[in-house]
Amino acid sequence: MKTRITELFGIQHPVIQGGMHFVGFAEMAAAVSNAGGLGLITGLTQRSPELLAKEIARCREMTDEPFGVNLTFLPAVTPPDYPGYVQAIIEGGVKIVETAGNNPAKWLPILKENGIKVIHKCTSVRHSLKAEQIGCDAVSVDGFECGGHPGEDDVGNWVLLPRAAEELKIPFVASGGVANGRQLAAALAMGADGVNMGTRFIATKEAPVHENVKQALVAASELDTRLIMRPLRNTERVLNNAAVERLLAKEKEMGANISFADIAEEVAGVYPRIMIDGEMDAGGWSCGMVAGLIHDIPTCKALIEGMVAEAEQIIRGRLAAVL
Ligand SMILES: Cc1cc2nc3c(=O)[nH]c(=O)nc-3n(C[C@H](O)[C@H](O)[C@H](O)COP(=O)(O)O)c2cc1C
Repeated sequence: MKTRITELFGIQHPVIQGGMHFVGFAEMAAAVSNAGGLGLITGLTQRSPELLAKEIARCREMTDEPFGVNLTFLPAVTPPDYPGYVQAIIEGGVKIVETAGNNPAKWLPILKENGIKVIHKCTSVRHSLKAEQIGCDAVSVDGFECGGHPGEDDVGNWVLLPRAAEELKIPFVASGGVANGRQLAAALAMGADGVNMGTRFIATKEAPVHENVKQALVAASELDTRLIMRPLRNTERVLNNAAVERLLAKEKEMGANISFADIAEEVAGVYPRIMIDGEMDAGGWSCGMVAGLIHDIPTCKALIEGMVAEAEQIIRGRLAAVL
């Protein structure tokens, strides 16, 4: 398949692995890139710019294919050392950055000066248009189904993607809820130039997470995610578990009076316990409704090639035959 996204990033298949906290290590990014997609290291999972530089170097040892780095701009009282992370990306020779969480305008000049392509991930048409206006090369349009932070507009991809196609000139990928070739074909039909997947890539052989996490995804259905932190306007879609039920009970009880401190036990610093130690009830962790479409734990190569083959078959077969 050749799309504006495969051309832009110099990749074989129009499939991107979105940044994922405590999943997007070098092993994950390299596996996706070696399979012909675009793998992304998650910048902030590395505690310092020096560690990110080492992770980039490690990834380079594992693949000769293009890979990128995700930079998530978080609302934080003491922000991470973003200038340092950007420097590590530039010095590491990385040529693709996925930005997310906030408007990346401040960082675009330095990224562009260094020949870095920027794909901004956002959850609305208005933010996508803003990204286009400030000079991003592409957008990842993340629908309400997505794992992680779906924003506060609650528009699903069935409407969001064709709306993005109506408005955008730069290429965009469909993000949120994607796991198979049917959806890749549908995303292309709706105007996207590829797909971005998070949750689906966690249930792969190479994903550097505890086996319990992969098994939890295979066991989960599309009904097993919950939206947490809505009252804080920092909504996150997570897999349901004992900690999430406790958190939701607190939200119900405290209503508008709730603050982050009240739920910190269920969300702060829980990722290593879940992803590395496999403590599945340690807290809320991002997971999409797409869990309902995850039935196996393939290699990244089998997953991506299978998706592309299925999409091609649908386009050439079922879709051509209805005409
Ligand atoms: C475990 C997990 C952690 C994530 N962490 C981040 C992150 O740190 N930064 C970010 O921009 N997106 C993050 N995401 C969102 C993904 O990059 C992607 O946009 C999303 O998973 C797409 O939806 P899907 O899970 O339905 O495929 C995360 C997603 C998951 C499942």
